[in-house]
Amino acid sequence: MKIILGIGGGIAAYKAAELARLLMQQDHQVQAVMTGAAQEFIQPLTFAALTGRKVLTDLFAIESAIEHISIAQEHELMVVAPATADLIGRLALGLAGDFLGTLYLAFTGPVVVAPAMNVNMWQHPATQANLETLRQRGHRIVEPDSGYLACGMTGPGRLADPETIVEAILLETRKRRDLEGEVVLLTAGPTQEPLDPVRYISNRSSGKMGYALAEAAAARGAQVNLISGPVHLPAPRGVELIPVRTAAEMREQVFAHLAPATIVIKAAAVADFHLSHVPAQKVKKTAARMSLELDPTPDILAELGRKKGDRLLIGFAAETQNLVPEARRKLESKNCDMVVGNLVGGADVGFESDRNEVVLALRTGETIPLPRASKREIADRIFDQVLKLRLALHAANGH
Ligand code: C5P
Repeated sequence: MKIILGIGGGIAAYKAAELARLLMQQDHQVQAVMTGAAQEFIQPLTFAALTGRKVLTDLFAIESAIEHISIAQEHELMVVAPATADLIGRLALGLAGDFLGTLYLAFTGPVVVAPAMNVNMWQHPATQANLETLRQRGHRIVEPDSGYLACGMTGPGRLADPETIVEAILLETRKRRDLEGEVVLLTAGPTQEPLDPVRYISNRSSGKMGYALAEAAAARGAQVNLISGPVHLPAPRGVELIPVRTAAEMREQVFAHLAPATIVIKAAAVADFHLSHVPAQKVKKTAARMSLELDPTPDILAELGRKKGDRLLIGFAAETQNLVPEARRKLESKNCDMVVGNLVGGADVGFESDRNEVVLALRTGETIPLPRASKREIADRIFDQVLKLRLALHAANGH
């Protein structure tokens, strides 16, 4: 593969040399591009020797004024390592003041970003906001490791191992169209159960995990039907969005779309209770105490478990405690092939958050923890496991 290696100006720039060497060893063609600051830390000659190509450094020293366009077109993937706080900010803003920035804007393929910086710079809201912009753009962020940093502090900020970065690059290229031919039926978001024409019961689900799954499935070539409760998210590209409001509507749409589905994922936080007979008029406020008698909503996942046929069925378990036993219990009781367990109610993962940390309970008996990452990254790892699970179940059934 033809890879652009963008090198930012941080102390970790020397590790980019190891990355270049690993990529060359794996028969990739590597074009190194260094920022001005990177050249303060390490000589272009190092990369020229490792890659066997002239290193691109200066926007104005190149042979043709439009060279960045042809270089962008010739290459299949861009990896930026180390990505400093400054470089991440410039990429997020789309600043084209140097060769790397210009090339980045002209490049249309997948981008992998491996940050490295001081822990406070990493944790700064400005850096995190810029990273989120890059994530939203679909770039793969290789989270920095925690440990001793060159500045003398300890914490997250150390450039990920070159092996980890290579793995991320492979994921970015391998995953391409591996869900082609699959029809994924997804539910996402909360449901709203009306109490009268203006009031309802709902929950804190933002729909972000389900939408990330829809986006990942579509990007990997699946046909996706996304049945979504009320959320504040744009419809993912290439996905058929079916908006619903209540659990009953969600159930109706799920079974209306079940026939062609090969994979069913129930990421929605369906309300468990509803009012069976909703008053036609707004209930008047009085000084008296009032109580509501609620009935259970239909358990869509349990019903799917009974009617799944040979489809893969994946449920979610949002818990505030006993995550693994609860996920396993749901796997059995609802006849799922996988249950994605996530702890909710904590500060920065789960509901509403852009990040998540989950554990996958599989029908094969395995339990796989997925460390904290963006919901989009978690979505890709879930599909990696769904595909593995399909192979394992096929093998077990003697196919
Ligand atoms: O048992 P619990 O409701 O916690 O299970 C959560 C899983 O069940 C989720 O996948 C959710 O989408 C699904 N569910 C459902 N219908 C309900 C309640 C939950 O499909 N009424």
